[in-house]
Amino acid sequence: MDKIVVRKSGPLQGEVKISGAKNAALPILVTSLLVNGENTYHNVPGLQDVESVKQLLTTLGARVHTDGHTVKIDGSGINQTKAPYDIVRKMRASILVLGPLLARMGKAKVSLPGGCAIGARPINLHLKGLARLGASIELKHGNVEAEVSQLIGNDIYFDVPTVTGTENLMMTAVLAKGETILRNAAREPEIIALADALNKMGAKIEGAGSSVISIKGVSALSPAEITIIPDRIEAGTFMVASALTRGDIKIVDCEPDHMRGIIHKLGLTGANIQIEGRTIRVKGPDVISSVDVKTLPYPGFPTDMQAQFMVLMSVAKGYCVISETIFENRFIHVSELRRLGADITVSGNSAMIKGSQALSGAQVMATDLRASASLILAGLVAEGSTEINRVYHLDRGYEGIEKKFGQLGADIQRLRE
Ligand code: EPU
Repeated sequence: MDKIVVRKSGPLQGEVKISGAKNAALPILVTSLLVNGENTYHNVPGLQDVESVKQLLTTLGARVHTDGHTVKIDGSGINQTKAPYDIVRKMRASILVLGPLLARMGKAKVSLPGGCAIGARPINLHLKGLARLGASIELKHGNVEAEVSQLIGNDIYFDVPTVTGTENLMMTAVLAKGETILRNAAREPEIIALADALNKMGAKIEGAGSSVISIKGVSALSPAEITIIPDRIEAGTFMVASALTRGDIKIVDCEPDHMRGIIHKLGLTGANIQIEGRTIRVKGPDVISSVDVKTLPYPGFPTDMQAQFMVLMSVAKGYCVISETIFENRFIHVSELRRLGADITVSGNSAMIKGSQALSGAQVMATDLRASASLILAGLVAEGSTEINRVYHLDRGYEGIEKKFGQLGADIQRLRE
């Protein structure tokens, strides 16, 4: 398996172009299941998770053609209803095909995603929602089996705002009879992006981006051309890199409006942040100040930036507390950061970080996608060299990460095995 080796680097400088958002691309590519024709998707990031979703759609009968960052998917040949374990185990987001397959084929069988490193990650709210639309759902032999003769719109309340749950239900309800209201829906920019994509295909969705979404069912959708929004977590990762290395990075082709939580917290650390259109320039402060952070559903501070921010806080001046309220086990990076010399104490869902630590390079293990990104960041300021194993997590969600960091002056190298 590949490794990434990062050596202590000077201030990172230059320009980095942000790729399309993984978490927008995955559900939006799945919309091809809903259409009898060919959708064209632009700005699709080159990621392992995108490859997995393309493979899954192909298994279901779609025809996929990729040309750089443009992907065409023809859903007219969809003829299978089963999402196999081999693909689902690689990518939890495979659960996103459950609702659309049900809407298209009247039945769907999707392998139940297991828990993962960051938490149990149940899908009970996806299933309850589908049942409210009239589906019968059974869990058999490790699969979710869903069937329906006619989806009927209904009022659905989510106990907690779930991102992929909201997306799954939105994609199902577009072809249901009558109106569906999703309450306490997730408000992430990726939800708005999906609603916009579906509306381009002829759906009638209103309210995406608020906690109440209304979907008036239509009888069919038509092919459309859709551009994937920029990845706010990739952009945030480079913002932290600039602050951390006292660098000066221009992050281009991003969407600052999707990143207000990150911009606010990073500003409080002393970083100088200038925003101009779709560019954010971050200059690292001489002294990084500690700032408390609590992860929350959007527009709160994203859980997907928590690990990266923790690295910054490990070298900041002072003490702070980072509370993780979305996933129950999203501190797995802590033990790896400790191996590099960070001083972090975890109690329940809070981590207390004593800053001003001199980090030193070591061998570490990537445990999940964002944890892996945090280890690269730590490697940039750790004395000597940091060797990150199991980098396949990174390839799931960051396009050309070592190339992008390398262009900014980082001493980073991939060792292929
Ligand atoms: N939850 C339930 N029941 C459900 C669904 C969710 O209890 O049926 C709970 C979860 O256990 C969690 C909370 O609701 O405590 C929120 O989870 P959510 O469903 O919103 O997470 P997700 O949809 O599985 C997406 C992203 C994650 C990101 C989270 C939170 C995709 C493909 N994944 O996951 O991205 O962390 O939202 O913002 O969109 C990543 O990119 O590294 C990543 C993990």
